[in-house]
Amino acid sequence: MEKIQWWQKAVVYQIYPRSFQDSNGDGVGDIPGIIERLPYLKDLGVQVIWLSPIYQSPNDDNGYDISDYREVLPEFGTMADVQKMLEVAHHLGLKIMMDLVVNHTSDEHQWFQESRKNKDNPYRNYYIWRDPVDGHEPNNWLSDFGGSAWEFDNNTQQYYLHLFSKKQPDLNWDNPDLRKNIYDTMKWWLDQGVDGFRMDVINLISKPSDLPNDPNVTLENHGSSMDFVANGPNIHEYLQEMNQEVLSKHDIITVGETPGVSTSDAMKYAGFDSHELQMIFQFEHTEIDNSPEGLGKWSDERFKLVDLKRILSKWQNDLYGKAWNSLYWNNHDRPRVVSRFGNDSDEYRILSAKMLAATLHFMQGTPYIYQGEEIGMTNIDLPSIKDYQDIDTLNAYNDLVVQQKRVTADKMMSYVHHSSRDNARTPMQWDNIKNAGFTDSHPWLSVNPNYQTINVADALTDQQSIFHFYQKLIALRQELPIITTGKYEVLDLEDASVYAYKRIDKNTQLLVISNFTDQKQTRHYDRTQSAQLVISNYSDDQGDVLRPYESKVYMF
Ligand code: GLC
Ligand code: CA
Repeated sequence: MEKIQWWQKAVVYQIYPRSFQDSNGDGVGDIPGIIERLPYLKDLGVQVIWLSPIYQSPNDDNGYDISDYREVLPEFGTMADVQKMLEVAHHLGLKIMMDLVVNHTSDEHQWFQESRKNKDNPYRNYYIWRDPVDGHEPNNWLSDFGGSAWEFDNNTQQYYLHLFSKKQPDLNWDNPDLRKNIYDTMKWWLDQGVDGFRMDVINLISKPSDLPNDPNVTLENHGSSMDFVANGPNIHEYLQEMNQEVLSKHDIITVGETPGVSTSDAMKYAGFDSHELQMIFQFEHTEIDNSPEGLGKWSDERFKLVDLKRILSKWQNDLYGKAWNSLYWNNHDRPRVVSRFGNDSDEYRILSAKMLAATLHFMQGTPYIYQGEEIGMTNIDLPSIKDYQDIDTLNAYNDLVVQQKRVTADKMMSYVHHSSRDNARTPMQWDNIKNAGFTDSHPWLSVNPNYQTINVADALTDQQSIFHFYQKLIALRQELPIITTGKYEVLDLEDASVYAYKRIDKNTQLLVISNFTDQKQTRHYDRTQSAQLVISNYSDDQGDVLRPYESKVYMF
């Protein structure tokens, strides 16, 4: 690795604007609400904020369906609010990374409105249109939100491709005109003063030549053609072009969301000399509890620790010295980590949330914290499917329960409680007054009733809170260079209860030990006599005895 870059030492905090802080009593989070809370994030100690989309959107997929890249959704505020947010953030020393959603637009984007008018329209080729084949869809690709990835448009008697909802038509990146238009948009946002981009499903932009059938899917197995389409023939050409045209000219942070990647793909996207992106979000560890029956994430399986260790260790080892990792447990698309990989019971929620935090934050890479993770927010069990808002959840319920009758309603609710994206999207819990201090009117999505005990106000007054544990982890990353540079080495990979690993530099070692169970475990790991305890989630140290969810880190 060459010189350490600022983004390699940074910790990023993800804000889902709709659920962060409402400032004007309409039940929807907004930019003035974010501005109000910036000092809180400064206090936590993060360096960068990633904002999920705030652009103009009909909200079919909560802003990931953009109808104007250069306008702000009025519900969220105005460009003047964005300017103010950037100003206040920069004044506090916080950087702001924008979500860039350019695999697709909304069908209400002007480009698509033009494109669908007729086959000769100058924007026709901005999207992917195909003739029917024998009266059917051009191929068997499935949308990630269920059903075919093709939608027939009566007007011109052709299908258009949408890997997500039918209101999210895929852009045609093989069109140089489209690419230039996107780069101009990126430059425009950089001129506004933003500090980087998180690029939504960016490795889907180059589609396989001639759009062949996906051999892995059938309509019945509720699959998705995302992995098949990923890493297409021209992807590296396009990202290198984007890098040359835009990214290389600015000292910014970039991360690509990339389903279906191997570590060798990652070296191409985020290699130290690949001139594409700085890092990517790989999906492997977020898919370890997928359905054994081919229902994708619609499952209520419990993960196995050995699988988690194997996957994370592979990413740590393979990228070492060659490319940079992102580190994350959850985001707006994934269930809450303490419920999923920890234990959200009253007894163990705090201990296990801290344990998970320490396990991730001592790895090599740039850590991402999803809003509410720092106070141990949990999944939610809403009683009825009617209480859910997420298009992915509603479509899956409709496909699997109503149409195909493959899953009973009860079973599906159990899957929804386990995997729905709305688990992550319930409003941020600020205090224990009405609606958790998120809004003074009716919130757009139910507040988790546990806000009475799980909230920021309580966390701030308690020195032993999860919040203060995160604060310490973030500070340690700045203090101890070995967290950024050390070589990772897993210990006892096959141990199904304890995750232990080392980080090794020339003169220093870290030993990270995390008990993933609610049982006492006894383990011995060698360390020197003078080893110091850097952090722990218990107030004392019992040596080889590991109490439930105990996590501790030594340095020597
Ligand atoms: C990404 C986003 C997700 C969205 C999808 C389509 O996976 O994180 O929220 O639904 O892309 O844009
Ligand atoms: Ca609002």
